[in-house]
Amino acid sequence: MKKLVWTMALCLLALVSTNEGGQEREYKQIMIELGATFQSLGRNISLENVFAITDARDAEKLAKEVVDYWQKTPNSDAVRWAKNVENGTAEVIAAINRSQWQQAEEAMAFIRTNCEACHKVYRPGERAPLYR
Ligand code: HEC
Repeated sequence: MKKLVWTMALCLLALVSTNEGGQEREYKQIMIELGATFQSLGRNISLENVFAITDARDAEKLAKEVVDYWQKTPNSDAVRWAKNVENGTAEVIAAINRSQWQQAEEAMAFIRTNCEACHKVYRPGERAPLYR
């Protein structure tokens, strides 16, 4: 009986730690995709390439996931930066739809300041006093 309890406790522990690792990986995965999508988006905007719209829609979806993630935390500053990124992508989409490339560039610059603001506070390896 004692052995069984120990086995169960160990299983539970393993389960909890795998789940935690899974959640962290998932957020990091969103960021990796956002980084790649944002890079491609910037390139396509500078080339005035209509495929920019596909990247912009992907970026908006990823930004929404970032907002959802931070809304489950008490960090209202991070939520605000994430929402700015989301709203910025909506502006980029609208600008591309009207072929207003200059406006798209300006919206991109606004988004970038919000990526950076959040990374300064929450990204490990930057200053990150609050994250983890
Ligand atoms: C609200 C906060 C927040 C915003 C906004 C944000 N990020 Fe991040 N980002 C993070 C955090 C936190 C990490 C660290 C994740 C980790 O290592 O677990 C990160 C990590 C990254 C990484 C590194 C992923 C890796 O390989 O480890 C990239 C690339 C990235 N972000 C791109 C972006 C881009 C591009 C934007 C803006 C379009 C952006 N991020 C906006 C919080 C944010």
